Amino acid sequence: MKYSRIIGTGAYYPEKVMTNADFEKMVETTDEWITTRTGIKTRHITAKDETTSDMAYKAALNAIDMAGIKASEIDGIIFATLSGDYTLPNTATMLQHKLGISGSFAFDLNVACSGFVYSLSVADAMIKVGQCKTILIACAERLSAMTDFTDRNTCVLFGDAAGCAIVRASDTPGVRSTNISADGTFGDLLTMHGVGTTYLANRDTMRLEDNFIKMNGREVFKQAVRMMEEAAVKAVADSGLQESDITFLVPHQANMRIIEATAKRFNLSMDKVLINLDRCGNTSSATIPTVLDDGIRSGKVKTGDNLVIVAFGGGATWGGSVVTL
Ligand code: ACO
Repeated sequence: MKYSRIIGTGAYYPEKVMTNADFEKMVETTDEWITTRTGIKTRHITAKDETTSDMAYKAALNAIDMAGIKASEIDGIIFATLSGDYTLPNTATMLQHKLGISGSFAFDLNVACSGFVYSLSVADAMIKVGQCKTILIACAERLSAMTDFTDRNTCVLFGDAAGCAIVRASDTPGVRSTNISADGTFGDLLTMHGVGTTYLANRDTMRLEDNFIKMNGREVFKQAVRMMEEAAVKAVADSGLQESDITFLVPHQANMRIIEATAKRFNLSMDKVLINLDRCGNTSSATIPTVLDDGIRSGKVKTGDNLVIVAFGGGATWGGSVVTL
């Protein structure tokens, strides 16, 4: 088989919702500031005992159900996360165990918010060389656990969620192109230094605040607009399709203004852009599979639609893909 296709998606959102009004009581901010600067209104937050792999398990069941396969047909799991349950074991094997399967490969992949695009690129390549037939991509983030709820610069931005996709070998085109890039020059724009060995080897200087996400928002914004455009343009150029063939933009959901700039580049009106940023905030690797699942389940996105998927994230990492559903 020459191609890989996305044959099922699934999402899971924790029950608890935090509104902008909740943040008005916690830090010096307003609903008006958050809405106009980011586009975010609400975000889901995990319960105390709800883990990243728990969320992924629920999203995976939904994806498996939509794909119409059995969990035992999954040859491997790629788990994109920057907020896994533990450093060891990896979250992919925990998900594998929860799904009641064994023997398939299972690895974590950490490229922050670019996780879905990177995972899709790896899955597509593995399937195309014939190494396996069916891959579960799981993207789940528990960013609330690494958010400083006293820092107004970051706390209003993030949420928790899980999104999954089943990618399978196919005779007809699905994933038409993928590109993935990184530039470590921008490594200090988005950081969370806790837990890493550089931190653990220096126990005498450990501080709780090292376990929270820190961000140079203005600089991230500038780079993100450039990276999203670069990756999306390349994805279309490599796909064999024309820009006019694109029916939906499926962008990483970090900031509405970044999304609008990318849509403008492709002359796509905002009703041709999938959005859950307003309801979910930035859920890092989970933004793309969750918003895609929302689009499919609501009937907005249909079989045959040509999607440009594009993301950027800490590292910096970025990437794009063109997918025919
Ligand atoms: N409420 C009120 N005021 C705030 C808030 C808030 N929640 N947050 C920041 N401000 C203030 C700042 O302190 C600053 O005040 P000052 O001028 O007195 O210093 C002022 O607002 C303007 O700050 P800017 O950073 O210039 O605001 P900007 O318009 O750039 O918006 C934002 C900030 C929303 C963070 C924007 O820069 C952005 O979205 N950047 C990209 C962020 C992003 O995409 N991050 C995720 C990366 S993905 C990943 O890998 C996790």
